[in-house]
Amino acid sequence: MFDVNEIRKDFPMLQNKKMQNHPLVYLDNAATTFKPQSVIDAVTSYYYNTSCNIHRGDYDLSYQISSEYEQGRKTVARFLNASEKEIVFTAGASASLNLVAYGYGLSHLHEGDVVLSCEAEHASSILPWFRVAEKTGAKVEYIPLTSTGEMTVENFKKALHDRVKVVAVTAVSNVLGYKNPIKEITRIAHEHGAVVVCDGAQAVPHMKVDVKDLDVDFLAFSSHKCCGPTGVGVLYGKYDFLCETDPTLLGGGSNARFDMCGNILLKNPPFKFEAGTPAIEAVLGLKAALEYLETIGMDHIESYEAELKRYAISKLSALDHLVVYNSNAETGIITFNAKGVFAQDAASYLNSQGIAVRAGNHCAKILNEVLGTSETVRASLYFYNTFDDVDRFVEAAKNITIENCVGLFF
Ligand SMILES: Cc1ncc(COP(=O)(O)O)c(C=O)c1O
Repeated sequence: MFDVNEIRKDFPMLQNKKMQNHPLVYLDNAATTFKPQSVIDAVTSYYYNTSCNIHRGDYDLSYQISSEYEQGRKTVARFLNASEKEIVFTAGASASLNLVAYGYGLSHLHEGDVVLSCEAEHASSILPWFRVAEKTGAKVEYIPLTSTGEMTVENFKKALHDRVKVVAVTAVSNVLGYKNPIKEITRIAHEHGAVVVCDGAQAVPHMKVDVKDLDVDFLAFSSHKCCGPTGVGVLYGKYDFLCETDPTLLGGGSNARFDMCGNILLKNPPFKFEAGTPAIEAVLGLKAALEYLETIGMDHIESYEAELKRYAISKLSALDHLVVYNSNAETGIITFNAKGVFAQDAASYLNSQGIAVRAGNHCAKILNEVLGTSETVRASLYFYNTFDDVDRFVEAAKNITIENCVGLFF
């Protein structure tokens, strides 16, 4: 049974926190999420009880922590319906996406090849491909979005052609919150021989993502957006693709042998990508986070967030001074502006009322032409937000006016 009040008890950051003398309403979950006690305990337990390196020591404590770390990999694999050997730990979604572009793209793209992306992509999903295109002579092209900023299968088909070798798209837009038709896009891309690299940063925390069902070739996400610690993320890759991907870091732990002539024998995936000492405690925290999400159930999380979002939209749409850009997106991202008010000023006003949101271009800097504005305010929900949070947000949003914003500074 999904009981948000019970769930909230698990999060220290949701206990009587105040901002500007108001009870905190945290609506910046697309940026990062709060951590339940079980995640905090998993991280601190490492420092209290098992603070050794992994895969190196010939003593019990090191065996123990190595095994717990590998249990983390098993948990991620189960969560995504992948196999353990397809799970690479990285520093986050950005690191994972860079690893694919540099490790796979650089050696597989040639002059005239095309990477097909879209205008709503986050910088971490598209900038590595710009750089790789520059180095290989490939080009980046875009799937046209609809007037409301959505990616459709029809538009994808129109943009696809024989030179497209990589399709690099996000599963859920971090600005507009639309769920992209990744499964269908992947099926069609594969018919054309293209590889699909999916940015799962805003999908994995909020819905069941089954990599076998989607059939994507690579998928990236960050721990900190799904209740886990910062400093760790995941790259899923089909095993054969990981075998064909070069590591972008070399060092201890990733090689089986090397000699004075510079010959290096790398380990098999995923270990060939994990040079150096990783963020061990963060992997243990990620394991605890995914187990926590599993006990709530990803289907419950997805449907509750959709319900909260619909409730918020039903209230916000009655406010004439607001423009909401993504009313029909099903995830918990609400992107809007108050007419005539600069987005940062609107966010500052909400801050003065104890409400945390983000303003700006949200790292998707080429989306402004579709939206007709470069700056928006983004309120992003997670499963621990309540209808009461939404009411507080809507009440405050009623008063986002130039006068009230100016009043903050004078
Ligand atoms: C869609 C999307 N992709 C990638 C990233 C990058 O994630 P990280 O900063 O954790 O590497 C983000 C972060 O906001 C995101 O929203």
